[in-house]
Amino acid sequence: MIKHIHTLADYLLQEEQTATDASGSFFLLLTRIEVAAKRIADKVRAVGLVDLLGKTGTINTFGEEVQKLDEFANQLLVDTLLTSGAVYAVVSEEMEHPVFAPPSHAGEYLVYIDPIDGSSNIDTNCPIGTIFSVYHKDGGFLQQGNRQVASGYVMYGSSVMLVYTSGHGVQGFTLEPASASFVYSHRNITLPAKGNIYSINEAYETLYDERTRAYLAHLRSLANHTARYVGSLVADAHRTLLKGGIFLYPPNRKQPEGKLRLMLEVNPYALLIEQAGGKAMSGNGKSPLTITPKTVHDRTSLVMGSKENVNLFADFLSA
Ligand code: AHG
Ligand code: MN
Ligand code: MN
Repeated sequence: MIKHIHTLADYLLQEEQTATDASGSFFLLLTRIEVAAKRIADKVRAVGLVDLLGKTGTINTFGEEVQKLDEFANQLLVDTLLTSGAVYAVVSEEMEHPVFAPPSHAGEYLVYIDPIDGSSNIDTNCPIGTIFSVYHKDGGFLQQGNRQVASGYVMYGSSVMLVYTSGHGVQGFTLEPASASFVYSHRNITLPAKGNIYSINEAYETLYDERTRAYLAHLRSLANHTARYVGSLVADAHRTLLKGGIFLYPPNRKQPEGKLRLMLEVNPYALLIEQAGGKAMSGNGKSPLTITPKTVHDRTSLVMGSKENVNLFADFLSA
């Protein structure tokens, strides 16, 4: 029996043939993201040998120290996307303002990127990732997350995976070293309705509001949960997508708006989680996808995961 090797390119072409609004440049966009992901993965695989460990000495727009790998990945993604012909502009965590494609290459998409997510984990060889979120340019830079054309991430873990949704479920592809292709490995990822893993930075316990603390105390009293927290959203969210449970980055006294970036961390994952049958909410208890951004660098809180787990948290919020 012939075993069909289904690559990302095969899947994108198949999607293009069935999608009504296929424009061809989506294929171009995703395959450019794929190329950049392979090049970043190549550096990550030997980051201790290629002088990409440690800090650049600069501070980004969020007041965070920029790591050498952040800068490398940012420049590679910006160059790869803006020369593709599919992209009008890129917004990045590592740049204060959007960067625009040259008129000769201006395309139809706005792409928001977190070039390296989990930067605090780079030097310790823990899982890190790249996050992307795609809009049509006609809606401008401050669109609600429910206007996303697609969102996804690359996870540089024990294997390298590219996971994305364009509104037709969540599809996962694993980088096959032998062929250097992303091969279709996770078809229509769906969260379990309920999970027993909770993921939150418990070091901030005293900074959370009392309802969040009451929720955490309740989970611990059940004694049927386990805690997992990598500190890379890409890793914590990937596990939540596959195993279910709940991921929380709620507001805390030091970060009353929450820490995560609306346009390039929260919205991409809110779309993925909802497409996988889960639920995402922000500080107002509603889906982050309904927030109208004030700036491209807004922060917000994020709670997401299996519907039953998120609904239980929501019950504590409204208690
Ligand atoms: P980034 O490395 O892109 O700045 O993102 C880090 C984010 C996210 O990956 C993770 O969920 C969160 O920061 C962890 O924050 P704490 O260290 O405060 O828990
Ligand atoms: Mn990040
Ligand atoms: Mn980052």
